[in-house]
Amino acid sequence: MNIAWVQVKRMREEYKKLDKAEMSIWECCVLLNEVVDDSDPDLDEPQIEHLLQTAEAIRKDYPNEDWLHLTALIHDLGKVLCLPAFGGLPQWAVVGDTFPLGCAFDESIVHHKYFKQNPDIKNPAYSTKNGVYEEGCGLENVVMSWGHDDYMYLVAKENGTTLPPAALFVIRYHSFYPLHREGKYTHLMNEEDRECFKWLQIFNKYDLYSKSKVRVDVEKVKPYYLSLIEKYFPAKLRW
Ligand SMILES: [Fe+2]
Ligand SMILES: [Fe+2]
Repeated sequence: MNIAWVQVKRMREEYKKLDKAEMSIWECCVLLNEVVDDSDPDLDEPQIEHLLQTAEAIRKDYPNEDWLHLTALIHDLGKVLCLPAFGGLPQWAVVGDTFPLGCAFDESIVHHKYFKQNPDIKNPAYSTKNGVYEEGCGLENVVMSWGHDDYMYLVAKENGTTLPPAALFVIRYHSFYPLHREGKYTHLMNEEDRECFKWLQIFNKYDLYSKSKVRVDVEKVKPYYLSLIEKYFPAKLRW
């Protein structure tokens, strides 16, 4: 919450180099098991189960949207940012709600009071409703706080995924709770954002409630997800 706009931009540029690792999507799913997310109430559950539970729940209700199944599988892979090989970022900088920088911090943002320590709060250009942006400019043009969402978006996009725009939108904004829980910042959205947003709302229901105790047989569903990975991603990705 105390990372200023300039720092976020620098961090994003650094990670955009994708020079931390080379591996497949599935290899990253396995690697993610090494990350323990303190904000996750189901600590006893391996991360891969959360990914597959979310994906399988969506698959049941939306059998034809295979891109959304894969989106669910990969949406949290950016959490590898916590691992030493990826910069070993502290948890608070990787998980948790995301929000725009360069315009007023909405009061709905969790721990809003801590923005007092953010240098941006003293910059008058950043303190109005639109800040440095124009109304309806599109979220693509908005600098978001850094986290696992934006990182995975970069990885997918820069590696040339063929997933549709809605998938990239879901990955990039699934922790943007001020938008999808509170309905804030909609004035920055454009028409395409609004189309994709419908899928984000669907996705979020599953992301939150898939943590049922229904165990997923990883080996059983693995071939299906490998086929989706092959359809939408190159065999090896740069991270
Ligand atoms: Fe997430
Ligand atoms: Fe998640």
